[in-house]
Formats: sequence, C-alpha cells, structure tokens
Amino acid sequence: MTFSRTEPAAAAAVVSPPIRVGLLGIGTVGSGTFRVLHRNQAEIRRRAGRGIEIAVVADLDVARARSVVGDAVPVVADARQVIADPSIDVVIELIGGYGIARTLVLEAIAAGKHVVTANKALLAVHGSEIFAAASERGVVVAFEAAVAGGIPIIKALREGLTANRIEWIAGIINGTTNFILSEMRSKGLDFDVVLKEAQRLGYAEADPTFDIEGVDAAHKATIMSAIAFGTPVRFDRAHVEGITRLQAADIRYAEQLGYRIKLLGITKRRPEGIELRVHPTLIPTARLIANVEGAMNAVVVQGDAVGTTLYYGKGAGSEPTASAVIADLVDIARLQTADPEHRVPSLAFQPGSLSDTPVLPIDEVVTAFYLRLRVADEPGVLSKVTTILADRGISIDALLQRESGEGESQTDVIILTHDTVEGRMRDAVAAMQALPTVLAPIVSLRKEDLA
Ligand code: HSE
Repeated sequence: MTFSRTEPAAAAAVVSPPIRVGLLGIGTVGSGTFRVLHRNQAEIRRRAGRGIEIAVVADLDVARARSVVGDAVPVVADARQVIADPSIDVVIELIGGYGIARTLVLEAIAAGKHVVTANKALLAVHGSEIFAAASERGVVVAFEAAVAGGIPIIKALREGLTANRIEWIAGIINGTTNFILSEMRSKGLDFDVVLKEAQRLGYAEADPTFDIEGVDAAHKATIMSAIAFGTPVRFDRAHVEGITRLQAADIRYAEQLGYRIKLLGITKRRPEGIELRVHPTLIPTARLIANVEGAMNAVVVQGDAVGTTLYYGKGAGSEPTASAVIADLVDIARLQTADPEHRVPSLAFQPGSLSDTPVLPIDEVVTAFYLRLRVADEPGVLSKVTTILADRGISIDALLQRESGEGESQTDVIILTHDTVEGRMRDAVAAMQALPTVLAPIVSLRKEDLA
C-alpha cells in the first residue's frame, strides 16, 4: 500500500470516470446537496474512488435552480429529459409526495438508472412496488435521507447491526413535533400557542398536518420496521396518532411522576407479530432519548447481540439531509465491482427472504398506560376506578391525586399502570368513563420504559 502526502485522490479519479447524476428538484435539500458535493468534492472523491458530478438539474422553477447552480450545470424544466439522457447514471428524486415523484422514480428505474430519494411518503406507501421494479432492473434505490435526515440510521440498521436480531426500535423522528413538545414542557404552554410560534419561526410548515398528526413519523417508522424485521413496507397497517390533543396539564403531571412525553415511532417484534405505531408516549426522564429537545431527532435500537444503541442528530435541514443523500451517492459510486445479486439489499434482507409476519392491530399491542381522570372528590371514587382495573387484570404502578383547592369539589387522579394489552385498557377506560363520578373525558397515553 502506498500513501501520498498530497492529492491521494488524483490517481483513483483517473481510473474511473465520475458518476453522472441528474437532480430532480433543487429546493432546500437539493441545493444543500449541490453545495456540499462542490465544497467537499476532493474528500468525497478520495472516499468514493471516483468523482460525483451533478450533470443536470430539473426543476419547474428554472430561475431558482439557476440561481443555485450558476452556469456550470445545465438546468431543464422537464424531468423526463434527465431520465431519457443515457449519460446519466443516477437520478436523485427530491420532488416529494406520492404523485409525479412515483411516476418519475419508476421511469428512472425502467431506464436503468440508480435512484436516490429522500421521499419517505413515497417509499412507505409505494415501496414494495418500487423495490420490486429496482430489483427486476438490477438498479439500486437508496433512501438514507428518508429517515431521520442526517442520522445514518438506515446504514446502521442495514449494515452496522446486520449480525443482530433486532428486537425493537423507538425514535423521535419528527423534529417539528419534538420542537412543539419541548416548548410546551419548558414554557408550560398549550399546543395551539406553540404551533403558531413554531410556524412563525419556520419549524412548522404552513400546513403542518403530516407532522402534527404523526403521519411523517409513521412513514419513517414504517421504513425502519421493514428493514429491521425483513418484511414488506406496510404503512397502511401502522397505527398513527399525533400530538394535537395533548394538553399542557398531562405534560406537567408526567414530569411530576418522572416522565417526559415524546412523539415516538415504535416498532417491536412480538411472537404474534410486529407492532408498528406512532403516538405520544411517556418515557422515564432518566433515558437519554427523553432529553432530546428542540427539533433534534434520535433513534434507539435494541438488538439481541449489541444491546441498546442510540443515534442522535438533525432530522431535517439542507446540509444534514444532503449529508445522507451524498452518502447514498458514494455507495452507488462504489457499485461497479458488485453485481446486482451481491449488493446490500434495499430492505436489508434478500428480496426472496422477506417474511409476511403480520402487523398486529392496535388492540393487541402491549404497553403501560398513563390515565388522567377528572373525578368528583368524594368517598369511594378511587375504589371504583381501581376495581375496574383489577377486574381486567390491569396492575397499577403509581397513583397521584392532585390536592383539591379550597372549596373545589373535583380533582385530577393520575394512574400509571404496568404493561397490559391495549384492548383490555380500552374496555377499562370505557367502564371508568361510564361512572357518574368521572366528570370529563379520560386522558389515556401510552408509556414505554425503553429499558
Ligand atoms: N418535517 C419533518 C420534521 C422533516 O419535522 O422532522 C422531514 O421529514
């Protein structure tokens, strides 16, 4: 082996011509990709063994695209011109959504191009069709940027942890909602107030539905679940709850009991099937992931050999997401020595080895619960509530009763339970709700120890 003090990349670059990349959509992530590729080109070439060249950009807003790339790179309005260009090796899809993006990705695959995409919605919903088409055509669809932005969680699950039987994954995989929850907790504010603030600061989009209703997190959890357990992507089986109904009072009570509330994407292997769910979750404050604040993301993965591992970083933004896009490009640049049968499979498991283990319905999920009941402050109320739980085999872990203020005839009772089957808890909540002494809708949140 020889080392050179200067420009060790030069020799490698002579051997292989640069890969030629067509970029579809040059918004926030696309411009970050262009910038980072340009800034770090020498370093990237030394790693990839060849250069990576953005050869053409397609964007409906040609003027904006030109303002990013200058005159050095041709800009076209029609993405199909890029796909039809035989000199293009790789197409990066940064358009987003399930519509035209799906058509263009399938056309690029059919044209024999490798595809890099940050489009979690597309893969979570149409991934099976897209991966099958790519496998058939012998090309790669790479998607590191689709989950947790700059955190290399796909690489970790697919390659770094490949020795393990993955047991569960729990992640804060939506920065917008984590920012909102952090603000609600630290400032004691209600959801609506913080959402407006998040929109003003640019953390939340004008239409924040996908983020606050948990859909974006569910797209990402769906992709991680498929890779972890070797199953097809099944977004339609995911249980999805957002944070819109969360109240400041519950964040406060959780804190008093030693918990933080986070929107988690969770997928777990159980003997009966796979749990796949997104919902606000109480986590012990002592866990590192409970202390992930603001717009940051973090993912905990439990493997049977490695134990618990934690991945933390920026889940969105121009250059963090570009970092993931370019990592995929480098992987593709190295492919020339691997025939399609011997590449890292898209979903980590060989296409013929995917299992059809079912995703469990939410009623069969097992978790602990936080319950808040607004009750009449009179004798016997608590005993009726605890009897309902005991009759259904639900064990209480902790109980907190807020002191009633002077002259108050109502009070909040907070109950933490041990693990139970969700269907049983649903039944218990219905029975408690029917008590005349329970005066408001019961708040029920799931709790995970992540131990
Ligand atoms: N809107 C997402 C978030 C980033 O808030 O984390 C892109 O998935």
